Amino acid sequence: MKAIDLRNKYIDFFESKGHVKIPSAPLVPENDPSVLFNTAGMQPLVPYLKGQTHPYGKRLCDYQKCVRTNDLDSVGDTTHHTFFEMLGNWSLGDYFKKDAVSYSFEFLTKVLEIPVNRLAVTVFKGNEFVEPDNETAGYWKEVGIPEERIKFMGEEDNWWPNMELTGLCGPDTEIFYFRSNDEIPTEFDPEDDRWVEIWNNVFMQYMHEEDGSFSELPIKNVDTGMGMERVTAILEGVNDNYESSIWRDIIEKIEEVSNCSYKGNEKAMRIIADHLRCAIFISADPAGIKPSNTDQGYILRRLIRRVIRYARNLNIDINSDWEEQIARLIIAKYENYYSEIKENKNIVIEVLKDEKIKFNKTLEIGLKEFSKTTQNLKRQEIYKLNGKTIFRLYDTFGFPPEVTEELAKENGFECDMEGFKKFFKEHQEKSRQGAEQKFKGGLADNSEQTIKYHTATHLLNAALKKVIDKNVHQKGSNITSERMRFDFSCDHKLSDDEKKKVEELVNQWIDEGIDVISTEMKKEEAIKSGAECMFIEKYPDVVTVYSIGDISKELCGGPHVKNTKELGHFKIKKEEASSSGVRRIKAILE
Ligand code: ALA
Repeated sequence: MKAIDLRNKYIDFFESKGHVKIPSAPLVPENDPSVLFNTAGMQPLVPYLKGQTHPYGKRLCDYQKCVRTNDLDSVGDTTHHTFFEMLGNWSLGDYFKKDAVSYSFEFLTKVLEIPVNRLAVTVFKGNEFVEPDNETAGYWKEVGIPEERIKFMGEEDNWWPNMELTGLCGPDTEIFYFRSNDEIPTEFDPEDDRWVEIWNNVFMQYMHEEDGSFSELPIKNVDTGMGMERVTAILEGVNDNYESSIWRDIIEKIEEVSNCSYKGNEKAMRIIADHLRCAIFISADPAGIKPSNTDQGYILRRLIRRVIRYARNLNIDINSDWEEQIARLIIAKYENYYSEIKENKNIVIEVLKDEKIKFNKTLEIGLKEFSKTTQNLKRQEIYKLNGKTIFRLYDTFGFPPEVTEELAKENGFECDMEGFKKFFKEHQEKSRQGAEQKFKGGLADNSEQTIKYHTATHLLNAALKKVIDKNVHQKGSNITSERMRFDFSCDHKLSDDEKKKVEELVNQWIDEGIDVISTEMKKEEAIKSGAECMFIEKYPDVVTVYSIGDISKELCGGPHVKNTKELGHFKIKKEEASSSGVRRIKAILE
């Protein structure tokens, strides 16, 4: 196997074509509460694809960290990953279809030396809004892709991201590689899975509006994406991504610490490798994510806990430093490409270890309870765990329902997860915690606390405007069940006196017991009424505005407490610089 250094080859090539390499944006999008993680290379570039001038120019390239957790349960096969790197190049209103095709072709055939005979492409066949993309097909022919290797496909295949979503979009052309030792068919059949997609070139020129229409963007862009893991595996001639040079030594390390071989233990080892790598990147991110029961913290917790579960299956001595050994190897692989990995490696190692200890305790108790319960059921010849039992394991023993589900499967039991959700919801409603909202974020056993913190950020925002300057604006926030973090524009370090005044004001408003009211209104009206928001374009046409008396008015998805007196006592723990012109306050509610 020849190890392919795809990342550097890609960047070097596009730099030679006048592109500027931009740094990978953080995994946790700054100031965007609508998504947990970056899922595509273009995500941090949205304002520029819409026409804003990018400080680095009109030709960009990068490798972007991405996390997709929607198919977490598929990880364990040969191709799925939670964390992955997406190689991308962009034209922001500069070159368009002709050059995009010619760059892609040159990179694949000249730099990666892929024989033309192994390549095929699809282009958009058109619909009622957009013409068939004969132009792109013509360019493919010009560079040397024969006609029988160019297929016109519909919206499901050649429109990105898809026809249903509003926002930036456009037709795309996808490039396929013939991954098989079989004789290569002359005619390309996109349904034949020996042809694997390796690269997507999107011609991002439309805005899909809320009313269903498509308007032209002020500039015509190119947005491309190539999955590092898949393409590396293909080029190195392996059918299992985890056998490529990206993963091989990590798998070998897992073999070493477990004293098991990869063969026969593929699923467990792939999950350990994949989830650990993802957990490392999440916990090294500047957002400072720690395992918790909500949002990114919950994903992190779930990843680490799954790693431990599978490590136990391999009979790894959990109390040894196995996770640190594997993590250090992963860190060494990435620290020269991602500075946060280098800077935060000790934090990462700590996070993994702490969570391991916490989970082990939970697991010991939960496992005992699980086997007691299932043995009882077996005696009665019942092979199904009902919702109430799953809920009891979770509620009383802190045993995660997804672990119950996995264990149940392994032991030949069915699980009534719908029933569990019902119990979970009832429980949440009882404690008035907005169950539905938070269930997607995980097991929100402390969501009451995060809701309080959420309301406290609105009060803090208002207090800063009063005490510091009315032009202070929120630049970001991050909430866990233990604390809140709030970034705001400000050109100086707050004095002790300013901090004290801010604290006093927030506590005064808490003591006043002011109702928190939400109102739905049109976005324009909300802005006219003076409601604050960070990124107006991220909001739908009808928005929710939360008002706290006449103190604060913000566009926000909620949820919030009903009355400020629920918050307790507000205390600033730290005030520090976040980035140039941005200060950060860490505060708690006691
Ligand atoms: N944005 C495109 C993708 O993610 C390139 O496939």
